[in-house]
Amino acid sequence: MPASRPLKGIVRVPGDKSIGHRSLIFGALAEGGLRIVGLPQGEDVRSTRRCLEALGASFSDASEAVVATGGGLSAPWKTPRGRLDCGNSGTTMRLLMGLLSGMPLEATLFGDTSLSRRPMGRVAEPLRAMGAGIELTGDKFAPVSVRGKRPLSAARYRLPVPSAQVKSAILLAGLSSSGETIVVDPFETRDHTERMLAWLNASVLRRDGPNIHLTPGLLSGDGRTVRVPGDVSSASFFMAAASMVEGSDVSLPGVGVNATRMGFVSVLKEMGALIEMTNQREEGGEPVADIRVRSAALRGVTVAAERVPTLIDEVPLLAVAAATARRVTRIEGLGELRHKESDRLEGTAKGLRAMGVAARVDGDALEIAGGSKIRGALIETLGDHRLAMAFSVAALAAHGETRLSDAECVAISYPGFFLDLEALCR
Ligand code: S3P
Repeated sequence: MPASRPLKGIVRVPGDKSIGHRSLIFGALAEGGLRIVGLPQGEDVRSTRRCLEALGASFSDASEAVVATGGGLSAPWKTPRGRLDCGNSGTTMRLLMGLLSGMPLEATLFGDTSLSRRPMGRVAEPLRAMGAGIELTGDKFAPVSVRGKRPLSAARYRLPVPSAQVKSAILLAGLSSSGETIVVDPFETRDHTERMLAWLNASVLRRDGPNIHLTPGLLSGDGRTVRVPGDVSSASFFMAAASMVEGSDVSLPGVGVNATRMGFVSVLKEMGALIEMTNQREEGGEPVADIRVRSAALRGVTVAAERVPTLIDEVPLLAVAAATARRVTRIEGLGELRHKESDRLEGTAKGLRAMGVAARVDGDALEIAGGSKIRGALIETLGDHRLAMAFSVAALAAHGETRLSDAECVAISYPGFFLDLEALCR
């Protein structure tokens, strides 16, 4: 029997972090600006806002919305006075590297210890090929100095790694290029940048199969409202918890259900989860639905590498759900997990083992034995918000107390996570 009481009730999860970053950047870039409703309050998105402000962009807080003044590609951009602090946020650093590459100014971006260990060469390489001056620390890492150039040369680039951040950086640079930029994304990574570009001007972006064609053009915000849907990555913690704890019934209204982000939901369903999606609609170019999850007996599955980009941020959570399932789960193609806010592959396996679950890293794959008796433990989160939340869910199924190091790191993406989880368990 799981240790937790059933989870019951409704949670409105914060706005999507990926879409939040992009709505600030495009709100600053688009003529006439944007009104952003549902911007998430996590530290990562705050980092993007702070950096954009230092670059001359202007935002104001109105009731229920953040208003981005906008100004196009020329105004309001300026060389910032100091270095730009990206905090823990890879999306902030990589997307701004792309944006700054096409601006006639210079800036240096830095981040915390975790961000300073993450690979930046994957972004620098295509941007240098377009003509930007990019200097990395030790030719690999942040701090990163960008000397922008306009116009940049047009580029055709095939992503060598499944990274929406690299793709988005090239597209942002492509807005300042002399011709058509083509990015080939054979991995189908999240497509929020493409959707927002098309929403702001249908003629700048064309897709055919894995090829994304961008022609520079005016982005017109005209003060329109972009509604940031609930973050499906945040909602996933409650989907897993409600599936795992007997007697649970949780509703999650207004969650983004973009197909490039739905891998976790589809795998959990294959494991036997009862997840219903109703009231499907489109808001600001993104699909949204209401989700209801009830508890169910889960069974182990094998997840092939091709599916990983659609559930990349949910792998630690999937591993936790797998620990409560019948039989073994194997998730393949997890090399990219080593380059996240922490080495999430090792962090997940170690955390599960601390809780008495047989979990093994096999090359780039993770294997988790289901049906183990999970016991409370001291979990090392490595300051990684997604590990902290995934192991909070594991704690619900564990016997005995679980403690997390650095639990406050959840504020990176979901400051109210523990309050929302407690409210469901009451
Ligand atoms: C993100 C892309 C993914 C994801 C991250 C957010 C984005 O990173 O893991 O949480 O908003 O573009 P990669 O591009 O490194 O895969």
